[in-house]
Formats: sequence, structure tokens, C-alpha cells
Amino acid sequence: MAGGTELRRRRDDVPPVLSVVTPTFNEAENLPLLVEAVHRALDGIPHEVVVADDDSPDGTWQVAERLAERDQTISVLRRFHDHGLSAAVLDGMTVARGEYLAVIDADLQHDPSILPAMLDEVRSGGSDVAVGSRSTEGGGYGNWTRGRRFVSWVATFIARVVLRVTVSDPMSGFFLISRGAYEQGAPGINPRGFKILLEFIGRDRTLRVTEVGYEFRLRRHGETKLNRSVIRSYLLAVAELRLGRQVDPAFLLYVLVGMVGLAVNSLVFAVAEAAGVPRFDTGLNEAIDPVYGSFVLSVNVSILVLFGLNNEFTFWEQRYRGWKLAPAFVVFWFMSLVGTLVHVAVFTFLENSGFLLGLLGAEASRTVQNLVGAVVALVVNWYLNTTYLWRRRTR
Ligand code: GDD
Ligand code: MN
Repeated sequence: MAGGTELRRRRDDVPPVLSVVTPTFNEAENLPLLVEAVHRALDGIPHEVVVADDDSPDGTWQVAERLAERDQTISVLRRFHDHGLSAAVLDGMTVARGEYLAVIDADLQHDPSILPAMLDEVRSGGSDVAVGSRSTEGGGYGNWTRGRRFVSWVATFIARVVLRVTVSDPMSGFFLISRGAYEQGAPGINPRGFKILLEFIGRDRTLRVTEVGYEFRLRRHGETKLNRSVIRSYLLAVAELRLGRQVDPAFLLYVLVGMVGLAVNSLVFAVAEAAGVPRFDTGLNEAIDPVYGSFVLSVNVSILVLFGLNNEFTFWEQRYRGWKLAPAFVVFWFMSLVGTLVHVAVFTFLENSGFLLGLLGAEASRTVQNLVGAVVALVVNWYLNTTYLWRRRTR
């Protein structure tokens, strides 16, 4: 457990069968309701509730400690350092004493009434992990918007393809695991981020996983803490699970963004060509004349898109905000100009060599020349961007 964590709990003599760990951040109103619902669901099954709170400003830890005064089964972790969902869950699991460990959100979006069914699945020896699932039989997403369902669907698809996990809801924050599987997996887990279930099942493919359906409910009180940076940290987590920690996962995001930029570039270029955007002479240098108007246009549109995506996504932790966006964009534009010169040089070289023209014909060769130039420029710009603009702290 991290230093600077305060643990309050009463010790009963016999460890419980099930520990229910609930991470909390500003859940003061929800927590008493959750505890009550957990007790009701687990009536007759010896259990404890471990609240892993990140020193919530709304005093969730105080509410929890007050509950614990009257209720021997509650333990409270008030965490001062290393805040974060996964880290809190892992700390909660560290102090949990049950033979089985469950994790459930405190906001009542997860349905505690399926905990006994989850426990049965693992206790019977048939599985190591039971996942509370929204997409299996008996499950549902409640009234999620189409947009949110789509994001979840894409994330699940990525996990299934890239990590080859078979569960239908790998994003679930609701699961139950045997102590054996927990102790096996815990030492290898990356405590950053929020995808704690994926950390367990993505690292150890031998785990037998089963799913129990439940209907995802609306949050009763308070609001979600997961902002749009979760998509980014999710992709980073998947990349790390797949490739290990050697490859810089930010580079993968950069390439991903670069591919979007490339698509934008190609699209704008094609549309501009079709629309007959004129070529023009700069009169500066015979080698680059005539300049393709469509090229100038597509490069500038993609520079804008790339700056936005890199700032808001790839380098989110070091992102520029407010007025600083303007100078940062200017620097980015000039760096891109260097990239663009490389791009132009490669394009022109290929064009003049006539090599692709012979192979592919006029139209296709120009598109391919454009692509090759962009890829070379991408690598040059990665170096410039990470060295001068979004300088990263060494990890
Ligand atoms: N201790 C601690 N620290 N708890 C946190 C933190 C944190 O930094 N961030 C969130 N929590 C707690 C919340 O208080 C809540 O009990 C639970 O973790 C889930 O957080 P929400 O903010 O309610 O997340 P969500 O409802 O948007 O996301 C849920 O669905 C996702 C799938 O779509 C969660 O279950 C995610 O785990 C899940 O991936
Ligand atoms: Mn929630």
C-alpha cells in the first residue's frame, strides 16, 4: 500500500468469504445506499466492505468512517497519494481479507444483487473470475446514448481483437476474483489508469472468465469522474498489455493521430484536385513550380487537425490551454513546415523520377507519392514535437 494511506477497520477473528472493494471519489450520498444494498444482497454470506477513497473533498471517507463505527464489516481506506481508480482498487484489494474479492462502483450503477451469482460461479471452481456484464444475457446498458454505446463497442472490439480476451464486456469495473487468481496477477499490474479488470484478464490468458448479466443503471447522485482522457488511457493500456512496456505507447498514439491526419490530407487533396484547385507558380524556385494548390490546402488542413488531436489526445498530459494554444500552434506550424519541406522533397523526387508514374499511372502515382512523403514527414515531426513542443518528463 502506498505511504500516506490511513486504514480504519475493525478486525473480526474469522476472515470473511467475500470482500467487496468499492473505489470512491465524491460518493458521499451514494455510499450509504451502496453499503445497504450490498448487505441486503449478501445476506447470509460472511462478507466485508472495503471503501477505497481518494480523500474525497465531499468527505466520503468521513461518511464511511461513520458507517464503520456502527458496522463491523466496513473498512475504510483514506488515500492521500497516488490517486486514481486502479490504484485505489488495488489498495483496497491489498487490505481485503476475503477468500474472494469483488470490485463494485459506489454509484449504484452496478447491481449488487448479482454478487451471489458471481460468487457461485467462482466458488464452484468453474471459473477464476466472474464479470458483471452489460452485454451478456440478462444484461443491459440502461439508457445509454448511442454515442456512448458506440465508444464502448469500439473499445470492446479493440480489446477482443488486440488482446484476444473473450469476454463481451472487458470494460466492466464490476467483477469478482478468487484470492488465488488475484495473488497470481496482482504483482504484474500497472496501477495507472482505470482498466483494472482488463489488467487481470489481459495479462493472464489462462484465467477462466465467466459473465453474469446485469442492467447498468443511471447514477443516483454526483457525476462521473471519467472524462475523455479515458479513451486515451484505455488505448495506452491496451497497447502496453499487448506490447509490454518497452515500446513508447505515446508514439503509437502519435502514429494513430498521424493516420487520421493522413486520411484528412488525402481526402482534402482528392476533393481539391477533383474541384480543380489551380496550380500556381511561386517564381521562387523552378524545382518546386508549379505548386499544387490542392497540396497546399490539404497540408494546412491536416496541420490544423494534427495539432488539435495531438494536443488533446496524444500529449494530453502536457497539453496547451487558453492563450498558450496560439504560440504553440505557431511553433507546431513551423515544425510542420520542416516536415512539409521533407514531404515536398520526397513527393518531388518521386514525381521527377517518374518511377511510380510508369507503374501506376498519373492519378494513383500522385496519391502514393503524397502518402510516402507524409510518412517520412511524420517521423521527422515526432522528433521535433517531442523534443521542443510537448516535452515529456522522463518516466
Ligand atoms: N478512489 C477513487 N479514485 N475512486 C474513483 C476514482 C479515483 O480516481 N475515479 C472514479 N472513482 C470511483 C467512483 O467514485 C465510482 O465509485 C467508480 O470509481 C466509477 O467511477 P465513475 O466516475 O462512476 O465511472 P463511470 O460510471 O463513468 O464508468 C464506469 O463504466 C465504465 C465502462 O463504461 C466504471 O465502471 C468504469 O470502471 C467502466 O470502465
Ligand atoms: Mn459510474
